[in-house]
This record gives sequence, C-alpha cells and structure tokens, in this order.
Amino acid sequence: MRATPIPEAMLEPIHDPLGSARDAIGAGRLAEKGLNVRHGTILTLEDINVSFDGFKALTNLNLYIGVGELRCIIGPNGAGKTTMMDVITGKTRPDNGSAYFGETLDLTRMSEVEIAQSGIGRKFQKPTVFEALSVFENLELAQKTNKSVWASLRAKLSGEQRERIDEVLETIRLEGSRERQAGLLSHGQKQFLEIGMLLVQDPQLLLLDEPVAGMTDAETEFTAELFKSLARKHSLMVVEHDMGFVGSIADHVTVLHQGSVLAEGSLNDVQADERVIEVYLGR
Ligand SMILES: Nc1ncnc2c1ncn2[C@@H]1O[C@H](COP(=O)(O)OP(=O)(O)OP(=O)(O)O)[C@@H](O)[C@H]1O
Ligand SMILES: [Mg+2]
Repeated sequence: MRATPIPEAMLEPIHDPLGSARDAIGAGRLAEKGLNVRHGTILTLEDINVSFDGFKALTNLNLYIGVGELRCIIGPNGAGKTTMMDVITGKTRPDNGSAYFGETLDLTRMSEVEIAQSGIGRKFQKPTVFEALSVFENLELAQKTNKSVWASLRAKLSGEQRERIDEVLETIRLEGSRERQAGLLSHGQKQFLEIGMLLVQDPQLLLLDEPVAGMTDAETEFTAELFKSLARKHSLMVVEHDMGFVGSIADHVTVLHQGSVLAEGSLNDVQADERVIEVYLGR
C-alpha cells in the first residue's frame, strides 16, 4: 500500500522528450526509468543547517513534499524561505543535513546544472526572459538549455519539442504573442513566459519564489488557476506573502520561522495557531 495522496502519478512514466538528457548528471540509469519516488515523496530535507558568518539562516529544517503536491511556504521576511530554495537547487550548500530529490538523488552532491537537469525548475522573483528575443525563441532556448549533446542529435524529436512549446504557449496564454518580442510583454506576461520556460523542460518539481509579486489581480487569479492545473503532473513549492493567493491554491501550508518549520497544515489551521499568530500573521 502506498500512502501517497496521488498514487497514479507515481506509476506514470516520466515524460522525458529529451530521452537521454539526464544521463549527463551521472544518474542516468535511474533517471531512464524515471525519478525514484517509491514512497510518494519527491523532496526530502532533513536536519538542514545553513549559517552565514555565524548567523543561522536554516536550523534543523525538516521538510517533505509529496509527488504531485502543491505546497505553499509562508513565513516572515528573513525566515529562510529563499535560502531553503537555494539549498534545493545547489546554490547554497548546507553545513549539514540531507537533501534528496526522489529516493536516491543526493542534492548536496550535485551541481546546480545537474540539479536543474534532473528535473527541478526554479523561478526567481524577477523575470529573467531574453527581452530581445520573441516569446517562441525564449521557449525554444529554454528547451535547448536542458539538452545533452546526444539529445540534440535526435532530430526526430524536434517535432515533439515544437508541439510541447505550442502546448506550453497555450498553458501560459501566450499563444497569440508567440512572435512578439519578450521585452514588449507586460510584467505579468513576462512572469508567465518564465514559467513557460520552466515547463518546456518538463521539471518534476517546480520552485516558485513570490510568483505573484507585482501582478495585477487578474494575473494573480490566472496564476492560481495555472498552478492548480500544474499540480499532480508536477510537484510545486510556492513561496508567497500574498495570503489571498495562498488560500486560493494551497491545501497544505508550511510556516517557516527563524530557519525552521513552525507549523504545517491547512491555511486555516496554521492561521489559527497561536505561535504563528504571534510571530507572523498577527503582526
Ligand atoms: N548570502 C547570504 N549571506 C548572509 N546572509 C544571508 C545570505 N542569504 C540570506 N541571508 C540571511 O539569511 C536570512 C534568511 O534569508 P532568506 O532570504 O532565506 O529569507 P526569506 O524567508 O526568503 O525572506 P523574504 O520573505 O524577505 O524573501 C536573512 O536574515 C538573510 O539576511
Ligand atoms: Mg525570499
């Protein structure tokens, strides 16, 4: 028996149009059969500590994300939310503790590039699209970034890749702007394009740091719809301060405070937690 909330997602073959792209990380044998998520957990962080010149940004942090889950992370400024994403993506090495993607990929021993290629996509707060290129070219480039030499030699895949780009254009509602120069898009559209640039790489886990900051209400609403539609097929970790947004998407919320998990549960549960009210929501 599996205890995962989404058992069928675990049985799905990993959609990997790039074929052997993941061989590049040296975990190819496993990756070929898909990420090993036997126990229904896609991300495991245990006893993670990070300090910067003696200041503890993360303290004995434990966090588990289930396959196909949409998890929101909240917490006051400086709680360690971005630092946690830095640890997951290999940008920051923890002083100690363990970080696993699936059952077997040890994130603390992989480079940032290897981690990205293994299926973890990250979106930073500020959009980083290539302004001079068209929307389509941005997606094309993002798709190629995640490609090994061997995969790029597989010409027969290019039709599939083009289809995937078309599909993503529709998902992010930019199908009417495919030839438009990215620099001419609105702030929100640039954010969607950047999400699209992650999606063409088919990451299994998406990390999104303050995705709706600076968005209009309508864009925020669309982002909520988009994330809900991405969950199940992907696992999402979303850091946000906008509680309305969090309430509209999350079934499970983790509150970080001073580098540790303070509370976990539904948004209602954590908002009713005295300790949470004290450190954060009641300020
Ligand atoms: N490279 C660094 N060097 C020194 N201190 C750092 C570094 N990165 C983060 N910190 C500190 O670690 C703490 C946690 O920062 P972090 O950016 O992870 O918080 P956060 O929860 O993302 O906050 P916010 O909601 O404001 O984005 C902060 O006190 C920050 O100043
Ligand atoms: Mg942050």
